[in-house]
Amino acid sequence: MSLQHDSHSNHPSRRDFLIASGAATASVSIGLGSRAHGASVEKLAVAGGPKAVTADASDATKWPQYGESEEQAVLELLRAPNYDPNAKLEKEWAEFLDVPYCTSHCNGTSALCSMFFALNLPPGSEIMVPSYTFFATIVPMRLFGLVPNFVDINPRTLNFDLEDAKKRLTPETKAVLPVHWIGLPADVDHIGDWANEKGLIFLEDAAHAHGAKLKGKRMGSWGRMSIFSYQATKPLPAIEGGMGVYQSEEDFGRATAFGNYDMKGMTENMPYYQYKGSGLGLKFRMHPIAAELARCQLRGLDERNDAGAAQVRRLNDRLTQLPGLYEQSSHRDDVQRLYYAWNMLFIDEKEVGVSRDKIADALAAEGVQVTGRHYTLQHELPLYAEEQWWHHKPVIPELPGSKQANDTCLGLPYFTKEVPELCEQYAQAFEKVWAHRAELA
Ligand SMILES: Cc1ncc(COP(=O)(O)O)c(C=O)c1O
Repeated sequence: MSLQHDSHSNHPSRRDFLIASGAATASVSIGLGSRAHGASVEKLAVAGGPKAVTADASDATKWPQYGESEEQAVLELLRAPNYDPNAKLEKEWAEFLDVPYCTSHCNGTSALCSMFFALNLPPGSEIMVPSYTFFATIVPMRLFGLVPNFVDINPRTLNFDLEDAKKRLTPETKAVLPVHWIGLPADVDHIGDWANEKGLIFLEDAAHAHGAKLKGKRMGSWGRMSIFSYQATKPLPAIEGGMGVYQSEEDFGRATAFGNYDMKGMTENMPYYQYKGSGLGLKFRMHPIAAELARCQLRGLDERNDAGAAQVRRLNDRLTQLPGLYEQSSHRDDVQRLYYAWNMLFIDEKEVGVSRDKIADALAAEGVQVTGRHYTLQHELPLYAEEQWWHHKPVIPELPGSKQANDTCLGLPYFTKEVPELCEQYAQAFEKVWAHRAELA
């Protein structure tokens, strides 16, 4: 596990000044200057002072955002029901990612099931995967005798830690499955190189990363297979839906045949086409209304992602001036990330001199919506400790990076529309709390 320290400050003098000046001088030094509330702002809300955040936030995180084009597309489908939107979405998504094969699924979980089936690995094979993820990245492995080999995350990126993975490689390990957590691309160039060197299959869970890029290449197009979720909260929301992405005809055919008895999108010469009419056991077809919603949302996806990320950038450029406050970042300039659900920050309690929870409570009292203080770690759940569910019992490791992430994180909401006043007040709330950190301690 490597811990990255903040070295990207655009405003070193301000940050240095805050570090040097501390709470005693902060009330006059942090530039709140002509505050509407006057001198009373000096008092923390948690101590009975006025709240720093007063702007209306009721609409600031509204998601999904559908409009006339979605209404029109759904209406047309209702008037003439058919499955054509699925094939159209598959084609458009393949073009968007610049990949040869895509299959739509009823959700990301069914796309993952199909991908694990397509792997065609012998039972007992292990897949390296972060514990810090949604159950669906892992649990469907079970159905095919596959076993998770839990890997730590870097506590400042929330992504697959390659150095940790290197220590956990076993003879049974056959694949790696990094996740691009809340839209931050994992280091898949390095992970992919290592996987190749070790003869491991390289997969991606891109459920949070619709359009994000590393080195100009979209996430989900790096691995041999990858999946996306189009569930309602995701960057490309279809309320419920998913997509499997495949680089080879063999993987595409096998994954598609698993959940599609009609073999849509396949040609007669493809090996799995012979199972048309029976399929291989499940029906994972996407609802065409969802496909239409996804198609509409795909238009303007990059622009929406960029606008959202730019607003977070403006806010975080200011927040990360505060001593001991960091953001989820890999500090790579070849990454084009997006945000989804949270703007995740981290507190170094030693540097701040106050516990994360006290800071969070003080911010909440100021009107800051503080969320995501703990994400469920899969390896701690009973399912993985019970032999009966697995080909062999997964190793339950110590994952200090995952624990650190949970102990230090402070999730802010991701604002899905332009809210400059709210962002300004969030920044003021943080600066106010930091100005009083000595008394909070
Ligand atoms: C990382 C990750 N993978 C997979 C999924 C599964 O997607 P779905 O909810 O569409 O089944 C999710 C859903 O939240 C997720 O967060």
